[in-house]
Amino acid sequence: MTASTRTDRSPEPERTALGRLLTLTVGAPAAGGTFVARHEGRVVFVRGAAPGETVVARLVEEPGDPSRARFWRAETIEVLDPSPDRVPSVWPEAGTDGVGGAEWAHIGLHAQRRLATEVLQDLLRRAGVGTFALEDVQVEPAPNDHDGLGWRTRVRFAVDEEGRIGMRGWRSHAVRPVGANPLAASAIRALDLPSLALPAGVEAVDAVAPSAGPASLVLIGRDLDPAGIALPPALAGADLSVQSAEGLTPIIGDGLVRERVGERRFRVGASGFWQVHTRAAEVLSEVVRTELDAREGDVVWDLYGGVGLFAAVLADRVGPAGAVLSVEGDRRASALAAENLADLPQATACTGDATAWARAQTRRPDRVVLDPPRAGAGSELMELLALAVRERIVYVSCEPSTLARDLAIAEARGWQVEELRAFDLFPHTHHIESVAVLGRRP
Ligand SMILES: C[S@@+](CC[C@H](N)C(=O)[O-])C[C@H]1O[C@@H](n2cnc3c(N)ncnc32)[C@H](O)[C@@H]1O
Repeated sequence: MTASTRTDRSPEPERTALGRLLTLTVGAPAAGGTFVARHEGRVVFVRGAAPGETVVARLVEEPGDPSRARFWRAETIEVLDPSPDRVPSVWPEAGTDGVGGAEWAHIGLHAQRRLATEVLQDLLRRAGVGTFALEDVQVEPAPNDHDGLGWRTRVRFAVDEEGRIGMRGWRSHAVRPVGANPLAASAIRALDLPSLALPAGVEAVDAVAPSAGPASLVLIGRDLDPAGIALPPALAGADLSVQSAEGLTPIIGDGLVRERVGERRFRVGASGFWQVHTRAAEVLSEVVRTELDAREGDVVWDLYGGVGLFAAVLADRVGPAGAVLSVEGDRRASALAAENLADLPQATACTGDATAWARAQTRRPDRVVLDPPRAGAGSELMELLALAVRERIVYVSCEPSTLARDLAIAEARGWQVEELRAFDLFPHTHHIESVAVLGRRP
């Protein structure tokens, strides 16, 4: 296929350009899983390419007036000059015009980690993080992860108007076929959800493959009537709940899933937060345990604590003379944290907004772990922590851009980054998990 390039100067030329094909030379990775190219001086973020490639890409429609857009987005439809990093996609249904959620599936796993490292280092550098040798940060694989497949223990499926299960496309509401979804854990693939016809009114389905106990499905739909839902025969063995405007109603099971980390068990809401990669809970709780380095008798805050994953390992470290306060905004998750931590009297589950809660405290913590959602902690919380924490902060992050911003705030308040690790806990996507360790500057 040859690329079209515009040479005429007709009025509002870009309006007619949507969907048109461009030949692009692809450059560095950009945040968000795309790659930067330029066309007639304008930046084009290209999906489905790799650095150094020449590709034919199709412009993706943007809302608003495209002639005013500062940049365009495009999807690769043909590769004219492939990168040595390009491999046959591990998930062809996630390619151009396919589902989102595996935007690097066409790039070799080692190269994905190299690119993610580049993005992370670049974001930290641009944010001005200056107390750590950024070239030392390298994205590490999860233990024994050789192919980046079968790791996703939580999958949200979309449902189309005919009741067929699929997933949404990149920057699209269209529901598209998922195929075998090789990233999903085997217990989810075994449910063969794409072959199911769902009851009317189901808008989405959450599938969970927990580390202990049966798989779980939650049928989601505002107007679903739990009394009218029967379990399709192919799903025998899985738990089932219905999430409607009235709340969550368990049909089979108790609306919870069971997770195990080492010897410890956790109960988690069937649609509640738990670390997604099969090895993530174990990897992150071990890094938090060793890097926070809590001592007997310490007061530790576990902000954005979920159902108590990190609080449990930290309670062991501070012992009966210490205190771990785990703060979670979601009432249901916080109630489960209280249950999960019930055998550890030194651990307390608190419900509330992490920043408001921290603002209200009168006793200074010795150490703090925080694990916020993608939006990050933000300046108010970082400034509070910079003043209040005596010894050490461990910041667990699933979004490097907000991590970089928040680390720069801590540095400006007299802290330094003492360690920075990054983990490939979302293989075949551009997402990474990072853990930064902050100490007071001498
Ligand atoms: C990335 S998860 C981490 C959970 C936990 N650390 C774990 O590893 O299982 C972030 C958690 O923060 C909670 N959350 C989101 N916004 C919050 C806020 N403003 N204050 C407190 N918790 C919040 C979410 O409900 C979620 O459980």
